[in-house]
Amino acid sequence: MKRLILLFLAGTSLALARQTAPQLPAPPLSTLPDGFSAPSGYGDSIYPLLGDAGLDVTHYDLSLRSDPRQDVISGRAVLSITALRELNQISLDFAGPKVLGVKLGGRAAQHAQVGEKLLILPPTPVTAGTAFTLTVAYSGTPALQYDSSTGGGLRLGWITQAGGSYVLSEPDGAHTFFPCNDVPADGASFSLHLDVPAGYTTVASGVQTRQVTAAGRTRTDFELAQPIPTYALTVHVGRLKLETQAGPAGIQIRNAFPVNLPDDVKATFAQTPAMIGFLAEWFGPYPYPVYGVAVSADPQIPALETATLSTFPARPEQPTTALHELAHQWFGNSLRLGDWSDIWLNEGFATYAELLWAQSQGQSAAPLLERWYARLARVPARGLPATQSLQLFDSSSYFRGALALHALRLNVGDGRFRRILADYVGRFAGRSVRTADFLGVAQQIGGQTALDAMRPWLVGPQLPPFPKGFFTQAVR
Ligand code: TRP
Ligand code: ZN
Repeated sequence: MKRLILLFLAGTSLALARQTAPQLPAPPLSTLPDGFSAPSGYGDSIYPLLGDAGLDVTHYDLSLRSDPRQDVISGRAVLSITALRELNQISLDFAGPKVLGVKLGGRAAQHAQVGEKLLILPPTPVTAGTAFTLTVAYSGTPALQYDSSTGGGLRLGWITQAGGSYVLSEPDGAHTFFPCNDVPADGASFSLHLDVPAGYTTVASGVQTRQVTAAGRTRTDFELAQPIPTYALTVHVGRLKLETQAGPAGIQIRNAFPVNLPDDVKATFAQTPAMIGFLAEWFGPYPYPVYGVAVSADPQIPALETATLSTFPARPEQPTTALHELAHQWFGNSLRLGDWSDIWLNEGFATYAELLWAQSQGQSAAPLLERWYARLARVPARGLPATQSLQLFDSSSYFRGALALHALRLNVGDGRFRRILADYVGRFAGRSVRTADFLGVAQQIGGQTALDAMRPWLVGPQLPPFPKGFFTQAVR
């Protein structure tokens, strides 16, 4: 964790050096072709222009043909969509590869690629409530997308380098390689058909269902039946070695490591089965049939909780980082954000899970709580809802979020704290969440005093004092 934040700070200063990095020219939305109108976006409070509030994408069927020796992909995306209102135009997020054709329910449809949007004109307006499919064929180089939430030092999306490709999209990189409603509020299930040169190994989010090698190509299929946010989807293609393991409760574990990866990096992940079992005791059943990690050949990237297959850098990490990304499978992937401003519901909870794990290993909570508080004491304080992209992954989302949960725990006691977490997960698994959803559960089980205990941590901006007995009372 500490390393992750340091890396992000390094990334921030890197942003200056990167300003001359090649950027794909994004045509302004003012140059709209005839018949098209400016899309309004989903209205997320941090990224208002991403997505389309009129769409509910329920499933993405993605066929991607790629070669890790070339930074080009050919794709066919079939989106299953329900219209949430009457649609005169459909807008998807998409940057980079050239669109070769769009079909709406099997018929060619007029389209335009403008900026980071793919706009489609249905021949007649789609009425509210209609379910339809949209097929998009494309080919080209995925856009260079730099992470605005960390100052631009980190590349996002489909990345091809050093003879491999991997996907790391949080928050807004998914639309570099497939057209999507790129807001976490609109989760979807996925079918993936990945076609690479024989000799390369492909792993991706979901359960592998089929693999065929013929005519010098290997095609591997994956299914992910549970809805996830678009940014959580990952694919790794490379010279990889797969290692499988039996997990608890019939969960299949498969890890993908670059061949020649040093054993000390693999050691980070030795406790995965125990960690899954432990977190399931707190949060309820692990949400997917499969879990594991994919280690990228790049030692510099930060770890990301990509769905069913967390992505890690090629360097040794603390086991707590592995635990953190695993916890996000519940908090972030299964329970997904309804709005980016609520990011503490991801980061605060995954960070707090580190404390639960430490205590289960016989360690005291005190040093962690003190470290978190010290981190917060040296940055400008803010309330928990983020108001701008640079706050998404700052110390407050992680540590103030985690301390808010600890304040709740001390108020309600361990028994009710457990029930609050399990109830929240049980109620919202596979759905989007807002801060009010969690507070509703906390109030129902913990009463008004539970909310009062959390309030100063939530609203801010001042950092509440580190209360006496804040950790000495922490039990078990
Ligand atoms: N969610 C990640 C974590 O805390 C951090 C993160 C945010 C990230 N955006 C990212 C990591 C982009 C890699 C790439 O675990
Ligand atoms: Zn995290």
